Amino acid sequence: MIVCTTIAEARDALRGVERPLGAVLTMGALHAGHLALIRRARAECKTVVATIYVNPTQFGDASDLDTYPRPMQDDLRVLRREGVDVLLVPSDAEIYPEGFSAWIEPGEIGERLEGEHRPGHFRGVCTVVLKLFNILSPDRSYFGQKDAQQVLVIRRMVDHLALPIDIVPVPTVRERDGLAMSSRNGNLTTQERRAARVLHRALTAARDLAAEGERNANTLRAAIHATLAEEPLVTIDYISIAHPQTLKELTTLSGPALASLAVRIGQTRLIDNITLLG
Ligand code: PAJ
Repeated sequence: MIVCTTIAEARDALRGVERPLGAVLTMGALHAGHLALIRRARAECKTVVATIYVNPTQFGDASDLDTYPRPMQDDLRVLRREGVDVLLVPSDAEIYPEGFSAWIEPGEIGERLEGEHRPGHFRGVCTVVLKLFNILSPDRSYFGQKDAQQVLVIRRMVDHLALPIDIVPVPTVRERDGLAMSSRNGNLTTQERRAARVLHRALTAARDLAAEGERNANTLRAAIHATLAEEPLVTIDYISIAHPQTLKELTTLSGPALASLAVRIGQTRLIDNITLLG
């Protein structure tokens, strides 16, 4: 694996490689969710490039950025083992040079859900993703459904800016008890980790109700709320039953819908989602 820290090195390493070139963009602290993306890229692409960059502009909260895990040696070992060809680990100065001002505004989809609760989040995500796409010029890039809104926002950016890149969504990888894998799970205490099981339980309760014929979105939101309320350590940020493409909140289900939630457990913020009637 060729490890690059500058844009110039990455361009050199990728010049003339066999295509398709698949990209997996990450903030490191790699877990089985990231591995699913890498393995899918490895299976479908001749060359695989990964990035590790904890992007400061997508964090609203300075303490979240500070406590974000950075186990670089472990990550390098994992990426080598998985047969990644090129890794870019850029510095802040490389991504955001002095006076940086070319921001991407994600628009309406980026202002809902996570965007509403983390203002500027998707502006930071879109800007760094576009910059990484420009550096790497991949044919495909793999993104997790765990961050369903991120997939929609990136897809729209790629579409509106006519980037010749396929955005490939990959299903959420979960722990045995249903908790979606996340780099932030490691920040949970034992007690908080146990409490976190309620997220998936709440979403599957809504999925089961919808499968049994419930079409009233408020009833589904209430079911999620009631399940989350069983866990005193959980504080709810939002519960959403929305259109799977526009993310507009629904009153009645007339086809597949995205049920998503964000909660805080102690100091840790967790998100998850599931497709209803999908
Ligand atoms: P990060 O949270 O490190 O996630 C990198 C990729 O892994 C994203 O596409 C995310 O959706 C996917 N992923 C995370 N947990 C997953 C899980 N449990 N199952 C499946 N996929 C999972 O998302 C980001 O970084 C950043 O916003 C980034 C796109 C790198 C831009 O900075």
